[in-house]
Amino acid sequence: MDPDFWLARWARGEIGFHRASVHPMLVAHGAPLAGRRVLAPLCGKSLDLAHLADLGCTLVGVELSEQAIAAFFAERGLAPQVTVEARFTRWVAGSYILLQGDYFTLTAADLGAPCAGLYDRAALIALPPALRPAYAAQTAKLLAPGAFGLLITLDYPQEAMDGPPFAVPEAEVRALYGAFAEIQSLVVEDALDAEPRFRERGLSRLSQCAYALRFAAP
Ligand SMILES: C[S@@+](CC[C@H](N)C(=O)[O-])C[C@H]1O[C@@H](n2cnc3c(N)ncnc32)[C@H](O)[C@@H]1O
Repeated sequence: MDPDFWLARWARGEIGFHRASVHPMLVAHGAPLAGRRVLAPLCGKSLDLAHLADLGCTLVGVELSEQAIAAFFAERGLAPQVTVEARFTRWVAGSYILLQGDYFTLTAADLGAPCAGLYDRAALIALPPALRPAYAAQTAKLLAPGAFGLLITLDYPQEAMDGPPFAVPEAEVRALYGAFAEIQSLVVEDALDAEPRFRERGLSRLSQCAYALRFAAP
């Protein structure tokens, strides 16, 4: 999607993707991320970042929207140090390093130190099909050898609804990350009752899926 699409959604407050509570699949399956430096692409102002910080993680979140990042810190009563760099503005407070800019231009040097964890909820599925291979390759390139990732996706009949969020079936997850990581399907749950807004958009089937990604060791 065009960056303006997302900035306009934040400006209009159309952030139905934002959850008012920590994602249950992170609570259930996030333990292997504890204590790691975790890369969180397309992070929004997710409460999941705070949950990961409570697990002893340092978060490196990447987000286009200044509004989202400012809200994340304000909602926690944190006053970040803000540094404008060439491609990113770096917001730092406590366990959080949030980089404001385009994830596709991120380099390992921007991370400050290697990330041995990945948390992707509503990031891969926010991207149209043509961008996903570049996203997965970029993500794999940025992570330290032996990194652990938790990936949360949605799957539904794509013809029934326009994304985002897009359907990303397990076969596509394996095609995108199979060259970089061992992939384990952790759980597949029906999600339509918990997400009635998607029934209203025409879906009669919606699955939410979590995967463990174990990136190749050195
Ligand atoms: C569907 S939302 C998910 C946000 C968050 N992961 C969550 O669970 O609430 C996708 C987010 O990615 C951001 N985004 C989209 N494209 C991006 C890009 N190329 N670089 C950085 N952030 C991007 C959007 O502004 C939006 O906040």
